[in-house]
Amino acid sequence: MSKKLSTDELVIRIMTIDDLAAVFHLGEQLFTSEYSSSMYRTWDEYEITTLFNSDSELCIVAELNEEVVGFALGTTVEKHNSSWKYGYLVWIGTRPGLQKCGAGKALFEEIKDRMVEQGVRMIIIDTDADNEAGIQFFKKQGFDNVQEHVYMTLNLSKTRKRRKKA
Ligand SMILES: CC(C)(COP(=O)(O)OP(=O)(O)OC[C@H]1O[C@@H](n2cnc3c(N)ncnc32)[C@H](O)[C@@H]1OP(=O)(O)O)[C@@H](O)C(=O)NCCC(=O)NCCS
Repeated sequence: MSKKLSTDELVIRIMTIDDLAAVFHLGEQLFTSEYSSSMYRTWDEYEITTLFNSDSELCIVAELNEEVVGFALGTTVEKHNSSWKYGYLVWIGTRPGLQKCGAGKALFEEIKDRMVEQGVRMIIIDTDADNEAGIQFFKKQGFDNVQEHVYMTLNLSKTRKRRKKA
């Protein structure tokens, strides 16, 4: 069983501009094409900078020995015709080798508290159906009502080749 990190060792804090590169590279280690093609395709610098610009209070990192070892990036969604405000936890990740040590939970607790402060009444997440680690983690944090949705791709390079031939 992995050793839990103590709150003295692990620092959970707001992400600053100086953390952007570390968060990006940690995400590159996690969201590989082998791990998840959809997460691999959508993880890029703009994801981080866009969320940092729009919802910097919901961009947090976990630090161990002054190194970034985890992150949680979120946003909120409000609808015209509803009094409900939703929190969307877009990305969460902890360093491979340090997983199951409590960093993910600490990050989630922090972002959840921040969302509650902002008036959020429901948090939503999405991940691949075969991301067992992620799903088990989210269930442990209290998420339920799992709904399946379909992810499809259209490879446009094939369409372009056919057009050239015609
Ligand atoms: C999902 C993820 C963030 C969890 O982070 P973590 O640091 O391992 O989480 P914690 O150590 O705080 O675990 C919290 C709980 O979830 C459980 N859990 C975490 N990973 C698990 C796994 N692979 N299988 C079963 N349970 C797991 C832990 O056992 C722990 O339970 P406990 O509170 O009863 O001890 C991490 O696995 C990760 O970075 N995965 C790759 C990125 C990803 O898929 N992100 C989600 C989609 S954006």
